[in-house]
Amino acid sequence: MKIKSAEFVISNAKVEKCPDSKLPEYAFIGRSNVGKSSLINMLTGRKSLAKTSAKPGKTQLINHFLINKDWHLVDLPGYGYAKVSKSSKKVFQKFITAYFRERKQMVCCFVLIDSRHAPQPIDMEFMQWLGENNIPFNIIFTKADKLKPKVLERNINAYQDKMLETWVAMPEFFVSSANSKLGQEEILEYIEAINEELKPE
Ligand code: GTP
Ligand code: MG
Repeated sequence: MKIKSAEFVISNAKVEKCPDSKLPEYAFIGRSNVGKSSLINMLTGRKSLAKTSAKPGKTQLINHFLINKDWHLVDLPGYGYAKVSKSSKKVFQKFITAYFRERKQMVCCFVLIDSRHAPQPIDMEFMQWLGENNIPFNIIFTKADKLKPKVLERNINAYQDKMLETWVAMPEFFVSSANSKLGQEEILEYIEAINEELKPE
């Protein structure tokens, strides 16, 4: 898919205030600092569409971007950052869970996982929660450029093994790098295929 236009629409902390639109939308979620905003910029080929930061906790609101005037891309705050959500690890910010429960246009969510780390309970719990709530998701392993190919492969295999302890199958997954643009085409093609499926004949 070619990105012809990418515009910021609105930021807010309330699901009710998200754009009143029937366009399909795709949300990017994951731990703080995993690279959600950077990935959005990489996918859209826009350097600073979504705000990024080396410090965790940069994105604090639900941010809607309109892509090709055809679908929404949503940048969400990270979970698991102590200063943002002081509650125990299990509790995600209320408005994030409300977003997933109530936003019917959200056709698929990408859970971002830092490819450098071993499986973390907070991500496992979050995916568990998505599963229990029948929210479609898949995984994007980020920051692939920070690892040697062999290590990357080993980490992803270990992740799959861990997932298969609780899931019947590994969700679809992608590997990405905001630096090298790895994953850009695959992820955009995946989104395009869903958009096409959803279009009336
Ligand atoms: P919050 O909004 O705080 O939840 O973080 P985020 O998940 O949006 O992360 P963000 O995109 O702001 O990136 C966090 C840091 O990781 C920044 O310093 C980015 O430059 C860096 N980063 C993100 N993606 C990549 C990547 O693919 N490769 C490398 N090397 N660094 C990355
Ligand atoms: Mg962010």
